[in-house]
Amino acid sequence: MSDAQKRAAAERALDFVEDGMRLGLGTGSTAEYFVRLLGEKVSKGLKVVGIPTSERTAALAEELGIPLTNLDETPELDLTVDGADELDAQLRLIKGGGGALLREKIVATASKNMIVIADQSKMVETLGKFPLPVEVVPFGSRVTSMKIAEVAREYGCTGEIEPRDDDYDVPFLTDSENFIYDCNFGSIPDPDGLNRALNLIPGVVDNGLFIGIATMAIIGTEAGTKDMLPE
Ligand code: 5RP
Repeated sequence: MSDAQKRAAAERALDFVEDGMRLGLGTGSTAEYFVRLLGEKVSKGLKVVGIPTSERTAALAEELGIPLTNLDETPELDLTVDGADELDAQLRLIKGGGGALLREKIVATASKNMIVIADQSKMVETLGKFPLPVEVVPFGSRVTSMKIAEVAREYGCTGEIEPRDDDYDVPFLTDSENFIYDCNFGSIPDPDGLNRALNLIPGVVDNGLFIGIATMAIIGTEAGTKDMLPE
């Protein structure tokens, strides 16, 4: 994990931002670099409007003077720039390490384009080493987690499925007041199938697999940034 690589990727993403754009603003440390750099441009006169993917990003953007709107007022976006916990060569992602996967997916899919910015440690051959976050409604969450395990097994995924909580065992609540289960699968042989099957379970709101959503990735490497299109 390299902060310089994250920053470099965020800086390159700014090349794709044009005056007048409606921008989805991601969540996490890499996305934060982007929001801060965007804030500098806005202070110098760039005209954009942002739709934040979390309360945390909304607070940062407000502090930086980036004009904000929401998806009810602005349902079609030009570009979303966001980080990822893992990505493969097809630009399939695992997201949600920061717990914002639901809003992130809603905002990204409302956008014509999604650019993923990441340092090179996030590139993997097979998704799944990073625990897959699944957002579930609190009601009946234990039953839902048992169904997640059943469905995952059908897709060749086993491993511990743990409720996310803080250091005091208080359940983590998403911005939409749901729980998150982190699924330690190790590897996900069929991300497309698993993504679809998980989202059919009653009680699952969404999961951190982003399939066919990212249109480009910018990877910070030791030798500079690399633009990637899906294979
Ligand atoms: C938050 C996310 C983040 O994009 C992901 O966790 C990557 O974060 P970071 O840039 O801090 O490594 O999905 O829900």
